[in-house]
Amino acid sequence: MHPNRLIQISPSVLSADFSRLGEQIKSIEECGGEVLHLDVMDGHYVPNLTFGPILVKAIRKMTNMVLEAHLMISNPDHYLENFINAGADIVLVHPSTCESVEDTLKKIRSLGAKAGLVVNPDEKLSLVEPYLGLMDQLLIMSVVPGFGGQSFMPEVLNDLPGFRQALDDHGILVEIDGGINKATMGAVLGMGIHRFVAGSAVFNKEATPGENFNVLQTLAVAG
Ligand code: DX5
Ligand code: ZN
Repeated sequence: MHPNRLIQISPSVLSADFSRLGEQIKSIEECGGEVLHLDVMDGHYVPNLTFGPILVKAIRKMTNMVLEAHLMISNPDHYLENFINAGADIVLVHPSTCESVEDTLKKIRSLGAKAGLVVNPDEKLSLVEPYLGLMDQLLIMSVVPGFGGQSFMPEVLNDLPGFRQALDDHGILVEIDGGINKATMGAVLGMGIHRFVAGSAVFNKEATPGENFNVLQTLAVAG
């Protein structure tokens, strides 16, 4: 099997047309989409405000795809149960928002979901080192969290090669989020990243979300 075969594109609904959300999600699923990325923002940890568990629950009814909730919120512990009960399969939290990162990761897993940590562009990957045994996924932000449609920051990957062995030893899925599109993907392929979040490159006026998804997925597989 081609080594890139396992790469997944995870469309972020942040850039979707919410008046046609069901149709847009279906279009991706019909093109083989396996994961959806749900950007939850509280207007406090980040300046932007999006949606909460109510929408996650509605999306759960629309699709069988794996749902990953990227929580850009203060006090995520308070809402973990709500998001997981609503249907989130994976919960990704920013370490600085947790009272105890260890407890948060353990709680996510005890509620039956997969747990992940997110590293911002101004943070070091080594931030997650103490928690490798407690996490399933690492999300590397390649933009400052808060908004879709920003430019990819390649320098966030500088630390990754030195960290690769430890991540592999723990079986951690590595994902990148922000500014991924046809042009920037090339710089990231071959770095052992398993999952690429793409918002504005999937949901735009150029083509249907499914068609845009297909273009990115084909590029990923071709390497
Ligand atoms: C940014 C979000 C990203 C973003 C990706 O805070 O976490 O998931 O929506 O959007 P694009 O692909 O447009 O950068
Ligand atoms: Zn995100």
